[in-house]
Amino acid sequence: MAYAAFRSIGAYVPSKILTNDDLSKMVDTTDEWISKRTGIKERHIAEENETTSDLGVEAAKLAIQRSGIDKSEIDLVICATISPDYFCMPSTATIISKKLELNPVMAFDISAACTGFVYILGIAKAFIESGMKKNVLIIGAEKLSAITDYTDRGTCILFGDGAGAAIISATQNKDEAIIDVHTGADGTYADLLMTPNGGTGSPHDNLEAEAGTCFMQMKGNETFKVAVRTLTKDVKEILQANDIKSDDVKHFIPHQANYRIIKAVGDALKMKEEQVVLTVAKYGNTSGASIPMAVNDIYEQGKLKLGDLMLFDAFGGGLTWGSALIPFSPLK
Ligand code: ACO
Repeated sequence: MAYAAFRSIGAYVPSKILTNDDLSKMVDTTDEWISKRTGIKERHIAEENETTSDLGVEAAKLAIQRSGIDKSEIDLVICATISPDYFCMPSTATIISKKLELNPVMAFDISAACTGFVYILGIAKAFIESGMKKNVLIIGAEKLSAITDYTDRGTCILFGDGAGAAIISATQNKDEAIIDVHTGADGTYADLLMTPNGGTGSPHDNLEAEAGTCFMQMKGNETFKVAVRTLTKDVKEILQANDIKSDDVKHFIPHQANYRIIKAVGDALKMKEEQVVLTVAKYGNTSGASIPMAVNDIYEQGKLKLGDLMLFDAFGGGLTWGSALIPFSPLK
């Protein structure tokens, strides 16, 4: 049987930075409020002519280069995004494939908001274990600034742009294998976090008027409470199901939405400070890109070593959630 190994990581952030002080000139907020309530200090914002696929391509180039696998060997491309280049078609994954000059392989997007990267990790694992694919490029890429309402202080302080990518490859060595991926969704909470405009769920008469105003809306406080409850339960379950203790985890890499959510979940799981990877202060919430961007951070700092056990957990619009246990298994 083939197993799925997490071979490499790459990420990209646009150079332009939007600080809390910048935002305080745009909406009624302060650096103090944002820092205290979210832990965010700044976020990166893409240029107007820079697309989600452009961000994804840069992250993917690094992941491919670091994987030791030739790009001609990639046989599946999956992109997790809620800010695709085009809302209906073509998928951002096909555009990324074309820009990277990959073979004309299967490519598609999935929409699971901030849980997107955990979802595509699970999909890549399933394709590899079934024997259908051997080398999967997975990408979380977001230009959230394009779907953020910069007059709404409840959301615009949270989000940023960026991308992260990984190569997941077939292996016969079980020690290298992704251990488990848990995913879930509950549409009961769909209205907590949504882009209510511009789709077939909008009144048809409004479609034209609303085109181009596809902004995120969030009931932040309710989302916060469901997030802490769901994440704690989900992570406890994946650890228990695999007979792994919190102490065995080298890097706990949660979705970077809010420092207070990460702290509450980390404390409930008895994670030590040195286990918890934090990037929320410098990138804000980059939805599907946040986990791979955080993995890339520890990789580039030299902290992510062969065999290190990573624990991902994520939560987002849908509502969706997911967690994963992954040893880092580079080829070189
Ligand atoms: N600056 C100043 N005051 C503000 C701001 C702001 N930027 N935003 C809200 N406030 C005010 C509110 O108006 C409210 O004022 P009131 O008491 O006079 O009514 C007060 O601050 C408290 O508002 P809350 O919404 O209760 O603040 P809270 O502590 O919950 O923080 C936040 C808000 C940061 C949004 C938090 O709820 C949060 O992080 N929620 C979860 C986000 C999340 O995880 N989303 C899922 C992933 S995102 C995805 O899937 C794309």
